[in-house]
Amino acid sequence: MAFRWKNDLTAKDVTPKNLYVNRRQIMAGLSGLGLASIGGRAAAEGLEPNSYEEITSYNNFYEFGTGKGDPAENAHMLTTSPWSVEIDGLVDKPGTYDFQEIMSNMTIEERIYRFRCVEAWSMVIPWQGFELADLLDMVGVQPGAKYLAFQTALRPEEMPGVRYAVLDWPYVEGLRLDEARHPLTIMATGIYDQPIPNQNGAPLRLVVPWKYGFKSIKSIVRITATDQEPPTSWNKANAGEYGFYSNVNPNVDHPRWSQATERRIGGGLFASRQDTLMFNGYDEVASLYEGMDLAKNF
Ligand code: MTE
Repeated sequence: MAFRWKNDLTAKDVTPKNLYVNRRQIMAGLSGLGLASIGGRAAAEGLEPNSYEEITSYNNFYEFGTGKGDPAENAHMLTTSPWSVEIDGLVDKPGTYDFQEIMSNMTIEERIYRFRCVEAWSMVIPWQGFELADLLDMVGVQPGAKYLAFQTALRPEEMPGVRYAVLDWPYVEGLRLDEARHPLTIMATGIYDQPIPNQNGAPLRLVVPWKYGFKSIKSIVRITATDQEPPTSWNKANAGEYGFYSNVNPNVDHPRWSQATERRIGGGLFASRQDTLMFNGYDEVASLYEGMDLAKNF
């Protein structure tokens, strides 16, 4: 039987909007209030986030190497300030948006999400960030748009991993527009009340908690609204193993391993294996896929 983490946080009970209103306040809250609120909430809810150390030392960010420890070792080479994001395609206000300008227009919230990697491990991560829908409203997505395409920075001089053709660089991802607009979909800008570390995708990365982690593209420099399903890096690398949707689904195995259970990082060797939940437990997204065969659209 599937084990639902007790009192897990969902869209219904995340920290209310306006908890933090801008980046400066996040930084001001760094010392006391912010961390206390996470710890207090998690303890009260029975949901134990992974440690900052676990979240920032066991990563996938192939631009900095394919080993789990490579991003923590190499990602300091990435210059994240200044940073701008090009937003183009089927939008009313295309342009190059400065990261600080984006932040000053967004409501920063705290979300504690389960994170499920396709490699069958998982973590619980306290993110700070804003809803992607708010950014889309800022630029005005046109009625013809059906998808969003995302792109990571490509800087060979700062990214030692892109010398190797393990993926077709730059890293790209895509979402259907209704997935992108779902209130669970966030652009993360912080972890544990600190600016997001480079190895986790500074200064801003996507987080889609009901999909496998590889959909959560890091260090984004471009977002394009389009009427065509965009290419995605892992699908281009191996279409038989990685589909466009990539929803967490315990009933559809990866061709080379089972997706029915997951190993929670941390918490000991034996205590941590548990059943994986459909949509990673975020049942409220099921209606997005009504009538679709999720074994075909994996
Ligand atoms: N984004 C880029 N640009 N490059 C990557 O290699 N790896 C993905 C995703 N986003 C990746 C990426 C994969 S496979 C996972 S599991 C998550 O990032 C890992 O996020 P984390 O390191 O913050 O846990």
